[in-house]
Amino acid sequence: MGSAEKLVDNWGRVHDQLRISVTDRCNLRCLYCMGRQPASYLSRSALLTYEEIIRFVRAVAKLGLRHVRLTGGEPLVRKDLPALVASLAAVEGIEDVSLTTNGSLLSQWASPLKEAGLRRVNISLDCLCPAKYHWLTGGELDSVLKGVDCACRAGFDTIKINAVAIRHFSESEIIPLAEFARRIGAEIRFIELMPSPQDNGSPHFEPLPASEVLAALEAHYGKLVPLEQTSAKSPATVYKFPDGNGLVGIIPALTRPFCATCNRLRLSADGKLRNCLFAFESWDIRALLRRGASEKTLQEIVLAAVNAKWQSRPEPEDKNLRLPMPMYRAGG
Ligand code: 5AD
Ligand code: SF4
Repeated sequence: MGSAEKLVDNWGRVHDQLRISVTDRCNLRCLYCMGRQPASYLSRSALLTYEEIIRFVRAVAKLGLRHVRLTGGEPLVRKDLPALVASLAAVEGIEDVSLTTNGSLLSQWASPLKEAGLRRVNISLDCLCPAKYHWLTGGELDSVLKGVDCACRAGFDTIKINAVAIRHFSESEIIPLAEFARRIGAEIRFIELMPSPQDNGSPHFEPLPASEVLAALEAHYGKLVPLEQTSAKSPATVYKFPDGNGLVGIIPALTRPFCATCNRLRLSADGKLRNCLFAFESWDIRALLRRGASEKTLQEIVLAAVNAKWQSRPEPEDKNLRLPMPMYRAGG
């Protein structure tokens, strides 16, 4: 074994990336994700242990897994995340360990994560107005800005700022966020909001389409220059600013499915393997691990999940595409 071909699906897509949610808990309450009501969380015993995660990653790395991204909930609310990063980085075949975080705890963890072998960090930051930030997330902008600052000083290979694009919210934030990212040497990425099911009394949010984000950027900066080398595997279309300073990625998560180049599998905090963000179907890895399944059995299940992957996400008849579950459950 050891060949990437092992994780090729029926449409030729090579699955060398796994997103692992380490917890469904979060210290924020983004209205478009958790909403204000306290969520019901998984019990501690429902979560995969770090040992279980490593055992699984070891098995899948032998099939060609190369990149692992840790997500949540908020991954940094899980105890001693650097220990997991260090163990993952040491797995044979794993080339890259990265993190998606809301940034609010990064001032404490950026250096230990870097030392543990974390290479890349994506920080969620939807706006730069403290009052709007508090309204949307329940958190304090200042803690995130401190976290971003510490991440910059820790020396990661790349830092990306992820902003969800929401109508009647994001319009006035696009240029300030772009300027902020340019100043700190980070790539700014705008992601169309994907509506998710919520019965938590949150306001109804509408996505701000990628085309409008691009138009707003070009009205301010002039024509953006698409990168020739945009990674086929990234869902973002990446542009250079006309003055050559910085990059902006635009992710039309809703309006243009990026299924054709999808290379991802996802493992939820309670050990459910999914082959698509929009899939209800899952494979129960936790049950296998706790039954003492062999590496071969784990690999067979992963191959079955890859083999079952659909070509393209389903388009709903009413055109109102929704995530089957909020991001904190699916694993951002
Ligand atoms: N649509 C788009 N992005 C979302 N995120 C969370 N929920 C949604 C959604 N419904 C983003 C977060 C974070 C990343 C993990 O996913 O803001 O940047
Ligand atoms: Fe927490 Fe991320 Fe969901 Fe916001 S989007 S509530 S930061 S998990």
